[in-house]
Amino acid sequence: MFSRIKEDIQTVFREDPAARNIAEVLFCYPGLHAIWMHRISHFFWQHGWKNLARLISHLSRFLTGIEIHPGAKIGRRFFIDHGMGVVIGETTEIGDDVLMYQGGVLGGTTREKAKRHPTLKNRVVIGADAVVLGNIEIGEGARVGSGSVVVKPVPPGATVVGVPGRIVEAKKEPKVKPMLDLEHGRLPDPVAEAVNILVKKQHDLEARIKKLEGQ
Ligand SMILES: CC(C)(COP(=O)(O)OP(=O)(O)OC[C@H]1O[C@@H](n2cnc3c(N)ncnc32)[C@H](O)[C@@H]1OP(=O)(O)O)[C@@H](O)C(=O)NCCC(=O)NCCS
Repeated sequence: MFSRIKEDIQTVFREDPAARNIAEVLFCYPGLHAIWMHRISHFFWQHGWKNLARLISHLSRFLTGIEIHPGAKIGRRFFIDHGMGVVIGETTEIGDDVLMYQGGVLGGTTREKAKRHPTLKNRVVIGADAVVLGNIEIGEGARVGSGSVVVKPVPPGATVVGVPGRIVEAKKEPKVKPMLDLEHGRLPDPVAEAVNILVKKQHDLEARIKKLEGQ
């Protein structure tokens, strides 16, 4: 348990350059308090103590301004910065290392008692006041711009902005593949390249001579 608490505190330092010391993080980060209270309420929810779970979640909302339904499944190192106005619905699933800013909503679009809230894969970022609605998947590493409204799935690595959300940036492949230097069979061969150029030049010249001879 203490290792998880330590990990949560380290996450705040990683995500928020304004964080100065542990006392400040412990006492002045409502996002952290909301996640800790959610873990307790989620435990009771899973063990059938649903009213108690709702009560803890309600108390957390009162104290932090962040509303996380006890049924929501949340991975490790989730961080809510500032927090006020965040709403996370009952059937939401959140992966690891997800970052969310104030006013973000992960909401449902149907009254059916089924999976109706978004699934965020690892390393997703939800900007301030962004609204993600319905049982859609936000792919790994995708970013939702502040103030956007997203109602369709977002592919991994994409950046979505606006209302309705549109993709402005897809994940770029690294220019040099990391292991290329070690793949000896795929290294460029400058001698072979030079010979190929000379052979091509020779063919072109032969073709021109034949043409001139034919005239
Ligand atoms: C979406 C986001 C992640 C994109 O960052 P980025 O990759 O650096 O992208 P850029 O700033 O280069 O913007 C790319 C395009 O999207 C537009 N854009 C960026 N964010 C936007 C937003 N929230 N709403 C509408 N358009 C936006 C830019 O104007 C630009 O458009 P252009 O190509 O026509 O010029 C970032 O803008 C964002 O909203 N982050 C959330 C941060 C946040 O909420 N912080 C709260 C701190 S309290």
